[in-house]
Amino acid sequence: SRVVKLAVIPGDGIGPEVVAEAEKVLDAVTSASDVAFEKTRFSLGAGRFLETGDTLTDDDLEAIKEHDAILLGAVGGVPGDPRLKDANIERGLLLKLRFELDHYVNLRPSKLYPGQLGPLADPGDIDFVVVREGTEGPYVGNGGSIRKGTPHEVANETSVNTAYGVERVVRYAFELAERRSKRLTLVHKTNVLVNAGALWQRTVQEVAIGHPDVAVDYLHVDAATIFLVTNPSRFDVIVTDNLFGDILTDLAGAVTGGIGLAASGNINPGGAFPSMFEPVHGSAPDIAGTGKADPTAAIGSVALLLDHLGLREEADRVTRAIEEDISERGAEPRTTIEIGDAIAARLQA
Ligand code: NAD
Ligand code: IPM
Ligand code: MN
Repeated sequence: SRVVKLAVIPGDGIGPEVVAEAEKVLDAVTSASDVAFEKTRFSLGAGRFLETGDTLTDDDLEAIKEHDAILLGAVGGVPGDPRLKDANIERGLLLKLRFELDHYVNLRPSKLYPGQLGPLADPGDIDFVVVREGTEGPYVGNGGSIRKGTPHEVANETSVNTAYGVERVVRYAFELAERRSKRLTLVHKTNVLVNAGALWQRTVQEVAIGHPDVAVDYLHVDAATIFLVTNPSRFDVIVTDNLFGDILTDLAGAVTGGIGLAASGNINPGGAFPSMFEPVHGSAPDIAGTGKADPTAAIGSVALLLDHLGLREEADRVTRAIEEDISERGAEPRTTIEIGDAIAARLQA
């Protein structure tokens, strides 16, 4: 029987709460199958930093690399916590993992589940995937500040876009579009960000030659936010840079019924490094400990993880269990654990 080595990073805030439910579902769906998940838990995040001063040590990183995949809850403390002023958990932990493990595809599907109303009056069929570049753009940390704290301060963040980095994610997006409805939308801001914009635009045009059956569209990011609300069914695959993708996918989560439903995968397509699956949302300090966190995004991330590992049948079963649970959700709010239990119960053999 197959053994999958899974690194589990529960993290901070609601992270451990939703990961517990995701693990419950993973255990349920694999209980009768011949694949065994061997889990290693990593204590990482703001909590670990406050205890030990460590963010992500070289040993942590090497140990994580020994795994086949990673399941992450969320990391990050309460915004503005003075004790975390110099910690920078997001850069030093989350982004470091994405960069070191070469997660150049940040895959963020958005689907209006059957029976899910969402905030839009007439949303139509929403089923698209944002392919967010994961290792470049304004996230690289190529910036600095001079005359800091003075009236003459100049603070820069440089967006790095390489031909290599843009091409590989654009290729992935076209291949994904081929397997879906064959519509691809590049989202950028080519009217203002003329250098990076031209590289993205040209790359899409060049890769499109090899995919004549994929219909290619372009939107400026500001206009894209309009259509995500007024006509989200126009989208199939959206390919975009790291920062635009971050912003669009919180909006996409909101229009498809809430950020508590939005799952994601940080994919290293070549498989040299483990891919990492996590909800789109953060550690939600405002609701941590209240039982209000929706674990569905974390559970959906387990479905993406299973699919990535080639465990299609298990992935489909988890997705179906989520769909069934959502279609039967009543008006009465349920706790994190109640939702996890209900979805896991649908998977018991
Ligand atoms: P957030 O996503 O944590 O929360 C935004 C809002 O959405 C909050 O009102 C929260 O209660 C709600 N929410 C989030 N997840 C929910 C769920 N599962 N069920 C119900 N409601 C949910 O974003 P934020 O407040 O901007 O960030 C909080 C912390 O998380 C920060 O430290 C931030 O840097 C970090 N963060 C981490 C990740 C990650 O680990 N991948 C992602 C985003 C933010
Ligand atoms: C996300 C988060 C992260 C990002 C932050 C916490 C670094 O918002 O996963 O969407 O911007 O990518
Ligand atoms: Mn985000």
